[in-house]
Amino acid sequence: MGCVQSQPIAQGGDGAGLPDEVLRKVEVLFFDCDDTLYQNDWATAELLKASIERYTVEELNLTPDYAYELYLEHGTALRGLLKKEHLSNSKVEHFLQDVHNVSLEDIKPNPVLRQMILSLGHKRRWVFTASIREHAERCLERIGIADLFEGIIDCRSVGLVTKHDPIAFVIAMEMANVTDPSTCLFFDDSTKNMETGKQMGWNTCLVGTKARGTGEHIVCPSADYKVDKLTDIIEAMPVLFEDARMPDPEAELVEAVSGAVVSTDVVDLDDPEGEEETGEMKVPSVSEGGKNVVVVLGGPGSGKGTQCARIVDDFDFVHLSAGDLLREEMRKPESEYGAIIEEAMKEGKLVDPDLTMNLIIQAFDEHDTDNFLVDGCPRDMSNYESWNALIEAPGIARVIGVLYYACDEQVLVDRILARAAASAPGEERPDDNVETAKKRFKTFRDLTLPIVELYRDKGLVHSIDAAGTVDEVYDETKQVMVELVNQS
Ligand code: ADP
Ligand code: C5P
Ligand code: MG
Repeated sequence: MGCVQSQPIAQGGDGAGLPDEVLRKVEVLFFDCDDTLYQNDWATAELLKASIERYTVEELNLTPDYAYELYLEHGTALRGLLKKEHLSNSKVEHFLQDVHNVSLEDIKPNPVLRQMILSLGHKRRWVFTASIREHAERCLERIGIADLFEGIIDCRSVGLVTKHDPIAFVIAMEMANVTDPSTCLFFDDSTKNMETGKQMGWNTCLVGTKARGTGEHIVCPSADYKVDKLTDIIEAMPVLFEDARMPDPEAELVEAVSGAVVSTDVVDLDDPEGEEETGEMKVPSVSEGGKNVVVVLGGPGSGKGTQCARIVDDFDFVHLSAGDLLREEMRKPESEYGAIIEEAMKEGKLVDPDLTMNLIIQAFDEHDTDNFLVDGCPRDMSNYESWNALIEAPGIARVIGVLYYACDEQVLVDRILARAAASAPGEERPDDNVETAKKRFKTFRDLTLPIVELYRDKGLVHSIDAAGTVDEVYDETKQVMVELVNQS
């Protein structure tokens, strides 16, 4: 690959980003399919390569490495086979169908990506692939995003030219009915495709920054952005998600995914006249903002879980602890994230926010209620951005208040050790020890407190002294909760 070098070189582009005004002009998003909309360490790419090799050997009686040589020389094996007259035009369809007939079981559902795409507001979305439509459709089906695109531009659409031929880009624009290249944004894992995209005046984002085989850092001056995986654009291009809150013709899609009841009608079905003043606590009615969330933050061991357990006895709220959801996932024998979560917890570090948000979105769907206490999230800037892009922007939920439990670190250490001593067999936490506690305090001070401040600036924070007894702390908590449910 021309762009791969052993040392990253600082050049223009190469993931340096674009001014916000440029990104705001983007109207049409073009996504490559293989190794961009999904990534699986090139497992599917290997199957496709082997499949092409099998075809050339078995059907065309050519030598095993020949197909790859043709690919290198002509951009695609198919073009080489046609040019060298190993394949006639009448056999092209047979070739395309046959070689793409590979197992796609290595492509996994990606609900976070789905949510992210839905959060892209009005921007139009196309799949632009060098493979065939049927293969792309099967991949999209596997990922769970088949309904999210206006159309697919495939190798047949572009007359079988290689994808990095400028003609392919011209046809892609025609098909997507867009005339101004500066309104196009292109996501692809190929540096060659980035180069042509840039030449054509498109905005570009390289997906995947490590070269296949060598793992070397990919240098690509033609890439305006470079991300390891597609969902990283939430942090890399927050501007793209700005218009997600505006009325969207696809609102019903967001609704279907989130399960949120989106209605401006605030009538309480049990009390249609709104007469009942005493007895049960009033809860906020769900409106455009989806679920109502009270975020619960505080140092490790400050009593977030303990207070939430009390709140749910008195108020119509469900408690979701991000840490509990992660521990639950960690303990599932079939989970592919178990080891990653355990490692992060032991180090007092935070896990990939996409995973945490995914677990929270799933948990929202599992409860038939509109009011949630979300304990321990968002907990740093990347949690916060991911929360805003995946949960707030598409209207799944909105934060109506933040309970912040303030407490001295020495008190927290004592509580953490008491919790460790009391834990049931099999329920032990990997992080309730003095050594990890120190790391968690640092994470809390350095990363979580700034988030409390961000919410404070929005007027959402209610600070509660967490040093008293459980009852004392709860008295204060209850007052704040009454205020919160009455104000909404
Ligand atoms: P967090 O969820 O914030 O990490 P927990 O609610 O699990 O904290 O509380 C940590 C430990 O401290 C638990 O063992 C809990 O029983 C205990 N605890 C919680 N609140 C208090 C309190 N106000 N006074 C004394 N111990 C407390
Ligand atoms: O909130 P709790 O103390 O249960 O969190 C335990 C651990 O779970 C954290 O130290 C961190 O490793 C992980 N976590 C996370 N992101 C969150 C919440 C918790 O990575 N938003
Ligand atoms: Mg807790």
